[in-house]
Amino acid sequence: MSTLSISLPGGIWTLGDLTVTRFGYGAMQLAGPGVMGPPADHDGALAVLREAVDLGITHIDTADAYGPRVTSQLIREALHPYADSLHIVTKVGATRDEQGGWPPARRPEDLRRAVHENLENLGLETLDVVNLRLGDAQGPRPGSLAEAFETLVDLQRQGLIRHLGVSNATAEQVAEARSIAPIVCVQNMYNLAHRHDDELIDELAEQGIAYVPFFPLGGFSPLQSSALSAVAARLHATPMSVALAWLLRRSPNILLIPGTSSVAHLRENVAGAGLSLSDEDLAELDKIGR
Ligand SMILES: NC(=O)c1ccc[n+]([C@@H]2O[C@H](COP(=O)([O-])OP(=O)(O)OC[C@H]3O[C@@H](n4cnc5c(N)ncnc54)[C@H](OP(=O)(O)O)[C@@H]3O)[C@@H](O)[C@H]2O)c1
Repeated sequence: MSTLSISLPGGIWTLGDLTVTRFGYGAMQLAGPGVMGPPADHDGALAVLREAVDLGITHIDTADAYGPRVTSQLIREALHPYADSLHIVTKVGATRDEQGGWPPARRPEDLRRAVHENLENLGLETLDVVNLRLGDAQGPRPGSLAEAFETLVDLQRQGLIRHLGVSNATAEQVAEARSIAPIVCVQNMYNLAHRHDDELIDELAEQGIAYVPFFPLGGFSPLQSSALSAVAARLHATPMSVALAWLLRRSPNILLIPGTSSVAHLRENVAGAGLSLSDEDLAELDKIGR
């Protein structure tokens, strides 16, 4: 397994005391259709995870809700025992129902059980980073996170969690979490076309807190924009490369976790994120989601 690499586009970032490459990998796409069940190609999924580590990626994002349990168990099968440099970020606060929905599971007993299950599925004694996932499948929802977040703080005090974060959160919920205990990251939906967290990203950058956009490539519906296609054509690059390179340029606290079930796409994304964008390119791209 490779040791910490700073040759990946974007270099490194520190989540509390953990150093990670800003270019990470999001494991959700490794589960079956609708993020339910096992992958069609089990060995292919293991190959993607091993390739991520071989490329020098030291940040993998997962959740027991993916599959459920499928992606975390694949990570364990592919990569355990983990290199000291590898850090796995997981999420608790949502579960799955038989229809493939994502009902919330944020009562203290749900969260305690979820943390223990994550430890077991990943084969760890301490989880590096746990995000409290808020809101629902439609996005963030207002409301206090105090009881749920305090439960995770208690599990952190017991030594089961190293660092905390929040996901799918409003700016008010981020502030509320920070008033209870330090957080190292916020994981929300954000990309070239969805810029609602611009202000939050800048505030978090000032505080040294990572912002980890989910759906960096548009998620289940790929990013489509004529301005993006025009910049990509000019640079002889793919729109995906431009979208990733733009995120790395957008703010130093942005960490990438693009998802893919393909080794070829993973390699393409790593290479593509290193694309250099001119001021003219940036100005054109900036108009897309404003
Ligand atoms: N906190 C939350 O609530 C939340 C919600 C959603 C996701 N997440 C996390 O965020 C991560 C990223 O989100 P995501 O995977 O849903 O969306 P994404 O990274 O925006 O896009 C993934 C999609 O893009 C395709 N893709 C990737 N690279 C490609 C390439 N080079 N060429 C063509 N197609 C390419 C993938 O298909 P292929 O498999 O064919 O490459 C997949 O369909 C997830 O893995 C998960 O860890 C968190």
